[in-house]
Amino acid sequence: MNREQTDKIKTWFDGYVGGFYGDDEYVNANIKLKDVHSRRVCSEMQYLAGALALSENQKAIARAIGLLHDVGRFEQFRKYRTYKDHESVNHCTLGVEVLMQSDILGDLDPAEREIIEKAVEYHGLKELPADLTDSTLLFARMIRDADKIDVFRVIAEYQKLYEQDRDNFMLEIELADEPNCTPEIIGAILNGQLIDYSRLRTLNDMRLMQLGWVYDVNFQPSLERIRQRKFLDMLLGCLPQTEEMRRVEEKVLTYVDAKLRGEG
Ligand SMILES: [Fe+2]
Repeated sequence: MNREQTDKIKTWFDGYVGGFYGDDEYVNANIKLKDVHSRRVCSEMQYLAGALALSENQKAIARAIGLLHDVGRFEQFRKYRTYKDHESVNHCTLGVEVLMQSDILGDLDPAEREIIEKAVEYHGLKELPADLTDSTLLFARMIRDADKIDVFRVIAEYQKLYEQDRDNFMLEIELADEPNCTPEIIGAILNGQLIDYSRLRTLNDMRLMQLGWVYDVNFQPSLERIRQRKFLDMLLGCLPQTEEMRRVEEKVLTYVDAKLRGEG
């Protein structure tokens, strides 16, 4: 990718997303969430690409993937007023359709174009397909990490806003804000298993699922970022103070610390 192509993608993205803002403040707040998220994930991809000592060309691909990975979210929210894929549309495949319709990647090297499209298509899967080429796998893993790093930030920021003013909270709350956690979810996290989105029942289940993301982080610099920014401590602090939750805390933090020491 050259500079011109990078600039063109950025300019296209700005214009495309700009078209989704309108008179509805609820829609605007939700569009803004993904607008900011896309730009932050772009920065996280830049950070990861640097930490992994990738080439300048690879860094440009990484940034493009970061910016575009959730491009399907805007159409999804406008049409369905939800970010729940199971109640609307798969936002990852919709994102690839948006890219194809716009032809914004049309003048890229075909191999680079494919890497970007695959990374967008696969970023939300529970697990990556087993048969990916090395370069597709590299970028698909990177975007999954960068996305998680920024979703941790979003959760931390919105948790604060939600606590400050629940009645005027403008964003979609997907799950019941009840104190309990689903036993199946607790079991999964204690066994080091990933948790499927469809199993979540309460906000605390969601927090447990997010803690469990540490098992699915691909690169050590990503875990360093997550640990340094104290996202795990924040999530743990929101959970009920029970014996079971203390076991969850120990399990997750022991896992992360071992990974950061280069073990396991
Ligand atoms: Fe996404």
